[in-house]
Amino acid sequence: MSMSKCPRISSFLIKQQNSLRSISTWWSNVQQGPPDAILGVTEAFKRDKNPQKINLGVGAYRDDNGKPYVLPSVIQAENQLMKKHLDKEYAPISGISDYCNEAIKLALSSDSHVIKDKCYASIQSISGTGALRLGAEFLKKYAPLKTIWVPIPTWGNHGQIFKFSGLEVKTYRYYDPETCGLDFEGMFQDLSSAPAGSVILLHACAHNPTGVDPKPGHWKELSKLFKDKNLFPFFDMAYQGFASGDIDRDASAVRLFLSDGHQIALAQSFAKNMGLYGERVGLFSLTTLDTDESDRILSQLKILVRGMYSNPPIHGARIAGEILSNTQLKNQWLVEVKGMADRIISVRNKLKDLLAKEGSTRNWEHITDQIGMFCYTGMNKDQVKQLIEKHSVYLTNDGRISMAGVTSKNVGYLASAMHKVTNN
Ligand SMILES: Cc1ncc(COP(=O)(O)O)c(C=O)c1O
Repeated sequence: MSMSKCPRISSFLIKQQNSLRSISTWWSNVQQGPPDAILGVTEAFKRDKNPQKINLGVGAYRDDNGKPYVLPSVIQAENQLMKKHLDKEYAPISGISDYCNEAIKLALSSDSHVIKDKCYASIQSISGTGALRLGAEFLKKYAPLKTIWVPIPTWGNHGQIFKFSGLEVKTYRYYDPETCGLDFEGMFQDLSSAPAGSVILLHACAHNPTGVDPKPGHWKELSKLFKDKNLFPFFDMAYQGFASGDIDRDASAVRLFLSDGHQIALAQSFAKNMGLYGERVGLFSLTTLDTDESDRILSQLKILVRGMYSNPPIHGARIAGEILSNTQLKNQWLVEVKGMADRIISVRNKLKDLLAKEGSTRNWEHITDQIGMFCYTGMNKDQVKQLIEKHSVYLTNDGRISMAGVTSKNVGYLASAMHKVTNN
């Protein structure tokens, strides 16, 4: 006899189904969320059959054949790690200490008084996003004002990371669509009006999505303003080395603030500069007055981590630690980072030159003035739509293109398509 033919079993099953149905009504008011803007671009790209299609939506580095790039230094570090036959035990809550020590030195430099005097609390994080989230949780608990100011525009995830932690998010002017450059006056005015004690999110280099960074003189003025107004800088440094190809140069804003005597918060990521996107290697740090403050802050950060995800993953941090602590491997990595940055700078130049060759009379100077992975092209929504629909060039609605997806093979097609949609 089959189960459903047995009256007692089938009535039991019906009861179970009914109780499951009533449980499922708990979620009946859950609304369908909007798809992620950038992943949506990739989905549309995948469906397109045009062999010349280009995906310039995603913020991940591609080599000149348009392929994901695993850095040779990363492969070597992995091989070295394999030979050590390490165990897979839990990492300490604060992460792998050798990695954490090397990562903060990379950001601040070994010569920094902060490093020498151990005036910092650093904790391994789940890449840059996790560092920002952990920082936000800490600020929500301990900052005098529960408000963070972010630039307009900013990385699409900043708003929700900070809101989900319970911070109020306010904005300051940053980008000038007229010049496709920095609206420094607007930025300065808005930050001048922020109440004392406000936390200000600053992109340390290679601003996402605009590729527009303040010049050294601007950073000096900002540092003074932060002092005068008692503002607190939270640096998001997701692209160290990726902007100029020089790790130290890309950290200069952070280091300037420190040498001017500021205390700072810092979120680091090794997703882009080591190509460790999926490994989720990051660091959150706060600089402190003394080692006593460092210890107290670290103890509270550990409590936050313990309650969120207990302890961080080990593999990526071991790779980054292996690279940063081995002089030969670190030097090799520095060359590879420069190689990635240089390739991006070279396709920026090519794209600008080819647009001119196509006969475009628009000013495309910003393509080479902007820096890092992204170019904020200044194309409007209609032009973006045409690029996607007529030319199979995929990008986000705001006209941002990931320069990392541009290669010596597709740059000609891209320039021609951009000229066609902007030539009226
Ligand atoms: C400005 C900025 N901050 C932080 C991140 C965080 O990246 P991840 O969590 O992959 O390290 C990104 C990634 O695109 C970014 O652009």
